[in-house]
Amino acid sequence: MTDNEITASEENSPSKTKSLKPLRELLQFLWPHKSRLIAASVALVFTAMAQLSLGYGIRILIDQGFANSSQDGLRQAVVFMIVVGFAMASGAFIRFYLVSWLGERVSADLREKVFNNLLTVHPGFYEKNYAGEIMSRLTTDTTLLQTLIGSSVSLAARSTLTLIGALILMSLTNFKLTLIMLIGVPLTLLPVLYLGRRVRKLSNKSQASIASVGNRAGEVLQSIKIVQSFQREAMERDVFGREVDIAFQIARKRIQQRAWLMACAIFLFLGGMVGMMWTGGQDVLAGRMSGGDLGAFVFYAVMLGSAFATLSEVWGDLQRAAGAAERLVELLHQDSDIVDDGEESMPYGQAVVASDLTFVYPSRPNTPALSGFNLTIPPGKTLALVGPSGAGKSTIFELLQRFYDPTAGQLTYGGKTLSDYSLAQWRQKLALVPQSPILFSGDIAYNIGYGNADASREQIEAAAEAAYAKEFIERLPNGLESEIGAQGVQLSGGQRQRIALARAILKNPEILLLDEATSALDTESEHYVQLALSELTRDRTTIVIAHRLSTIMNADAIAVVDNGSVVDVGTHNELLARCGLYQRLASMQFKEPDGNVDENQSKVMPATVVPEAV
Ligand SMILES: Nc1ncnc2c1ncn2[C@@H]1O[C@H](COP(=O)(O)OP(=O)(O)OP(=O)(O)O)[C@@H](O)[C@H]1O
Ligand SMILES: [Mg+2]
Repeated sequence: MTDNEITASEENSPSKTKSLKPLRELLQFLWPHKSRLIAASVALVFTAMAQLSLGYGIRILIDQGFANSSQDGLRQAVVFMIVVGFAMASGAFIRFYLVSWLGERVSADLREKVFNNLLTVHPGFYEKNYAGEIMSRLTTDTTLLQTLIGSSVSLAARSTLTLIGALILMSLTNFKLTLIMLIGVPLTLLPVLYLGRRVRKLSNKSQASIASVGNRAGEVLQSIKIVQSFQREAMERDVFGREVDIAFQIARKRIQQRAWLMACAIFLFLGGMVGMMWTGGQDVLAGRMSGGDLGAFVFYAVMLGSAFATLSEVWGDLQRAAGAAERLVELLHQDSDIVDDGEESMPYGQAVVASDLTFVYPSRPNTPALSGFNLTIPPGKTLALVGPSGAGKSTIFELLQRFYDPTAGQLTYGGKTLSDYSLAQWRQKLALVPQSPILFSGDIAYNIGYGNADASREQIEAAAEAAYAKEFIERLPNGLESEIGAQGVQLSGGQRQRIALARAILKNPEILLLDEATSALDTESEHYVQLALSELTRDRTTIVIAHRLSTIMNADAIAVVDNGSVVDVGTHNELLARCGLYQRLASMQFKEPDGNVDENQSKVMPATVVPEAV
């Protein structure tokens, strides 16, 4: 997508001066494999030399074999060439193996390192940078770099060597002709450099638009049911078609530039060759030069030419790869906004206190989600948060888990700000059952076990039982080993919720965060889960968000949240007696099952008509 941070910055990087700089970052990935790198370089130099020495073979062939009509000379030349051919083949084998190995290894390492870093980045990052796009970088961009290291760089090195070697041998063979060739070289260089620069810019754009295509497809396919149910296939087809077409158009421009690049190089080079042959031919005719020398010279010139063409080709690759490296390095160095440098030793069983907490989501700088939020969560107690949708209840959970840090005010545990503790130690204390359960593809045991890596089979079963999930799991074909599909699509909403609950139970946290943890359950299962929860939450700090007040009436305290702050805290009865918002929420809910009470009426319903217990 064009409005995201990374694409924007890459499109804004016009300077050619820093064009290949990002590639320098790759050196640190090559360094650990330096012995292979050295071996590959040796093989490379060796093959380049062997290749160049073929020119010598050609000279013997012509001057001693053909010119003298000598069998011996012919045999000598052929034997020489066979030996050189064998040397070249073995050198090429070693070089190819080692260099491709390096390419694969470095791109694998890079992929891994980038992913490892992405795991630690603050979740807010992924609101602006779509997962699909990042994934495409991890695959296409690393593949580009793999090609770069696995072939382009070695081609470039080999061609450079050949180029230098050919030049030296050419000057030794015939200095005047070499000079003529050399005049042609700068002429070819100019258009090549100019076109190369444009190729790079277009490559960056091309990669970004392909990433955006992938992103779009991913999102649509993940939500295929919504697409089909609202019959937006045609619309999605058009939008996708347009994106694909944009990607194609950019790619087409890039290919065009590259085609020009190649054509220019070839044409200019051949022009030079023809000029050289003509001048050289004159010398041979006049007897100033042997036919063998001209033959060898032409051979060197062809080598030089092809080396040069390869280089101009590789130059394009290098610039493409530089674009890819730039984007990957960005991801590699992406810092987390959540600073993890707290060193306080972690106490146990303390109160969590929010004092004057203000929080603004980075993407909504003008509307604070929380403002002047004050709340004390005593240890070992159950505190419920109620309030209208969008009041900021889930947001406080985000802050508690340090997915974001407060904009102003403080969130403390045991009197110290959460950032005074190490992130790992703090999160170890928490377990969340999120508002919409997030599961992974895999079986049920894996998903419950996600809560605690060290859990035994028995513990997983016990957690499933505590979450009232055992009964439905047993009815599945493979029990705990039943696969649940991507994001758990093969389960019902209520089943997913119970798996998420079991996962949190398995972690056995000091602080349990339940965000609408039972909202998707039927009344009967909810009743049982509530029973299990009351067992679980006893003596455990628990924060429950619930819309259904019946589920939280027994909480030690209930905080009413409205518009980003806490408007009142008390028990169910206290709040019923004094908190207008709570009365409204309560009267609407407890009246609804009887039907027929409309909203306006229920708003004026006196608190006393609300049943004390349900
Ligand atoms: N990632 C986000 N980026 C920007 N704004 C957000 C983000 N998440 C939530 N908000 C906004 O913050 C406000 C509080 O949202 P929050 O999710 O805390 O509400 P809630 O009380 O949990 O509501 P509900 O009961 O519907 O779950 C809302 O106005 C919402 O639009
Ligand atoms: Mg919420």
